[in-house]
Parts: sequence; C-alpha cells; structure tokens
Amino acid sequence: MSDKSRVSRRQFLNYTLTGVGGFMAAGMLAPMVRFAVDPLLKETAEGEFVAVTSIDEITNEPKRFDFKVKVVDAWYESEEARSAWVFRQDNGEILAMSPVCTHLGCTVNWAPEGRPQNEFFCPCHDGRYEKNGVNIKGTPPTRPLDVYDHKVEDGKLYLGKAKVREGA
Ligand code: FES
Repeated sequence: MSDKSRVSRRQFLNYTLTGVGGFMAAGMLAPMVRFAVDPLLKETAEGEFVAVTSIDEITNEPKRFDFKVKVVDAWYESEEARSAWVFRQDNGEILAMSPVCTHLGCTVNWAPEGRPQNEFFCPCHDGRYEKNGVNIKGTPPTRPLDVYDHKVEDGKLYLGKAKVREGA
C-alpha cells in the first residue's frame, strides 16, 4: 500500500469528528424541522365526512352545530372540535359555513343582540357577513366565510372539509 492511500492520524481524527459532529447536528435539527412542518403533516382523516345533525334540525335560520373530526398527525390520531353555521337557503339547498372569521380568526355569531339582524357579526373588529357568508364591503374581512363540503344520507347531514370561497 502506498503512502498516499494511508490515512494519517490527523485525517482520521478529522473524519471522525466531522462524522460525529454531523450526526449530533442532525439530531438537533430534526425536531426543529419536524416542528416547522408539523401543520403540513396534520390533516383530517382523508375524505372523511362526519355526521353532524338530523336534517330535520335545519331551518332557514342559521343554527350552530358543534362536532368533532379525527385528526391524523403522522402516527398520532386525535379528535378536534369544529363548529358550523348551517341553514337552508331559499332554493332549498343546505349551506354549512365555518364560524371562523376570515379577518383574524375570531368566531362569528349569527345576528347577536344589538347588531344588524340577518347578518353574521364578528365581535373582534366589527366584521360583518351577509346571511350567505359573503363579507360585507367596508368591514375588515376580505373574503367570505369558508364553506364545508356536505352530503345528506339517511336523513343526516354529514360535513367534510371547509373550503375557501372567492372574495366579495
Ligand atoms: S377577526 Fe373578525 S373582524 Fe377581525
């Protein structure tokens, strides 16, 4: 074996320390990266619809329904609380909307006392929405309330994912 192919003590030490240092750095960075991308990994069980109420409960006046969805976070499964404002529109179709204000995420209420009736109102910054969830121009929200996918089966309303609608 020639001298060139031999590893000197100094080189051996360099390789070893670099390897150990890299291993330790990876060990410290992995949890940070995992934490940063955590919301991306977190999702409801795919395509899952949850039974929320009997359709007999749905009138043309928005009612709030609370329900739980299964959330899969890598290998960990849990349940999270959700709510929806649900009513039957004039054309008979059901509309189920997220109560999360599209301005900064407070919870909107339907026609609270002392506020304009026939509208949703957000108490945080006086955000207002029409009954169909479309944001009223001149108030802080810049887009309508999100709408849940829904289906009706065996007389029950099932809700899926909440989806973004275009701005008013
Ligand atoms: S969070 Fe609803 S108006 Fe600001």
